[in-house]
Amino acid sequence: MKILRTVDDVRSFREGARGSVGLVPTMGALHAGHLSLVARARGENDRTFASIFVNPAQFGPNEDLAAYPRTPESDLRLLESLGVDAVWTPSPADVYPPGFQTFVNVDEVSAPLEGARRPGHFRGVATVVAKLFNVFRPDRAYFGQKDAQQVAVVRRMVADLSFPVDVVVCPIVREADGLALSSRNAYLSSDERRSAPVIFRALEAGRLAFEKGQRDANSLRRLVSEVLATEPLLEEDYVSIADPDTLAERTFAEGPTLLSLAARVGRTRLIDNVLLGGT
Ligand code: PAJ
Repeated sequence: MKILRTVDDVRSFREGARGSVGLVPTMGALHAGHLSLVARARGENDRTFASIFVNPAQFGPNEDLAAYPRTPESDLRLLESLGVDAVWTPSPADVYPPGFQTFVNVDEVSAPLEGARRPGHFRGVATVVAKLFNVFRPDRAYFGQKDAQQVAVVRRMVADLSFPVDVVVCPIVREADGLALSSRNAYLSSDERRSAPVIFRALEAGRLAFEKGQRDANSLRRLVSEVLATEPLLEEDYVSIADPDTLAERTFAEGPTLLSLAARVGRTRLIDNVLLGGT
């Protein structure tokens, strides 16, 4: 597996890559969720590339950029064992050269939910993903449904700016008790870790009510909130019933609908979601 540092390193490696190229962008601290994206990319492409970059532009001033888990040696071992051809591990200056001032804003899709709570987050995501697409020129790029709004932002950007990339979305990988895998789960104390699966139980309660015919979005939101409220260590941030492409809140859960939520468990903020109907 080739480890690439600069934009020029990636460009020259890319020149020599024959056949289709799949890209898996990550911020490292890899877990089975990330690895499911890599396995899918390997299965669908002749060459598989990954990136590991804790992107400063998508962290707010009071967020966990400095504390974000970093496990570079084991990340590289895992990627190599899965047959990744090359990994880009740039420094911030490789991605954001001196004088950098060009950003991608995906306006409306970035505005609600995560975007409202994390100002500038999706501008940072869209900018770095655009840069990764330009540097790697992948045929396909792999993202997790775990970050549902990120998927909507990237899809909108690809459509609006005509990036020649297929965005492939992979299902959420969960622990046995339903907790979605996340690099931030490492922050949870053992008590918090025991509380966190209520997030999945709340989403499941919403899904079950939907499957039994409940379509009123307020009733579904209320039901999910009630389940979350049974766990004292957890504090709801939001529960949303929205259009999965635009993230606009729905009055009725008709057509494909995204049920998503964010909650704080101690100092750790977790997000999760389930798609209702359609796909
Ligand atoms: P990161 O949080 O490292 O996640 C990398 C990819 O793994 C994302 O597409 C994310 O949705 C996916 N992922 C995370 N947990 C998952 C799970 N439990 N199941 C399935 N997929 C999962 O998301 C980012 O990095 C960054 O914003 C990035 C796109 C790399 C841009 O900086």
